[in-house]
Amino acid sequence: MGGRAREKSVKHYSSKHKILLVGEGDFSFSKCLATAFGTAANMTATSLDNKEWLQRKHRQAMANVEELKNMGCTIIHGVSAHRMKDHPQLQSKYFDRVVFNFPHSGFSHRAEDSYHMIKRHRKLVWAFLINASEMLTKKGQIHVTHKTTYPYSEWDIEGLAEEAGLRLLKISPFDIDEYDGYVNKKGDGSKCDKSFPAGNSCTYKFAI
Ligand SMILES: C[S@@+](CC[C@H](N)C(=O)[O-])C[C@H]1O[C@@H](n2cnc3c(N)ncnc32)[C@H](O)[C@@H]1O
Repeated sequence: MGGRAREKSVKHYSSKHKILLVGEGDFSFSKCLATAFGTAANMTATSLDNKEWLQRKHRQAMANVEELKNMGCTIIHGVSAHRMKDHPQLQSKYFDRVVFNFPHSGFSHRAEDSYHMIKRHRKLVWAFLINASEMLTKKGQIHVTHKTTYPYSEWDIEGLAEEAGLRLLKISPFDIDEYDGYVNKKGDGSKCDKSFPAGNSCTYKFAI
C-alpha cells in the first residue's frame, strides 16, 4: 500500500521535475503534462494576462485552470517574463524546467519581419532567459519552443542564450502531436484564441 508515485513522462518532462511554465495561452500545454503525469503537484503554470483578460481571450482557459488546480498545480496570473524572478510568489523558487512555448510579444501594425518587431520579440526572449537562468536548480534546464523559419530565425535564440551565458544542450524538433490536448495559441489580437501551424519548430534546451 502507499509507496511513491511512479514517475511518468511526456517528451522532455517528468512528473518528478519541478516545472515552471511561462506565457501560457489557454493553459492546454500545462494540462497536457498534468493529465499525463496524473498530478500537477510539481507544476507552476503562469500567464501574462490577469484572470479577467485570460477569460476574455481564451474560451477554454478557465476550465483548464480549474482542472490544473484540482491536480495540485500552482497557478499565477500576471507574470511577466521581464521580471518573473522577482515575482512575490516566485522569489527564491527553483525549477528543474523553465518553459516558454512560442514566446511572442504581441502583434502591431508593423510586419513580423520588421526590424522593430524582431527587436521587440528578441527583448522578450532575452528577458526570459536572464530571469529563468536565476530560477534553475543545479541541473535545471530552460526550454524555448520556437519556429525556425524566417522571420523567426532572425530572433537568433541561440545567440541570445550565448550572450546570456547559457549553454546550448540540444535543439530538438518539435512535434505538437506528442503533446496530447495542447492547442498552441496566437495569444494576442482579434484572433488571440486561434491556433497557428507550429510548422518547422524546435525546442531549444539551455543550461547554465
Ligand atoms: C504565441 S502566444 C503562445 C502562448 C502559449 N505559450 C502557447 O504555446 O499556446 C505568446 C504568448 O506570450 C505571452 N507573453 C507576451 N509577453 C509576455 C511577457 N512579457 N511575459 C510572459 N508572457 C508573455 C502572451 O501572453 C502570449 O500568451
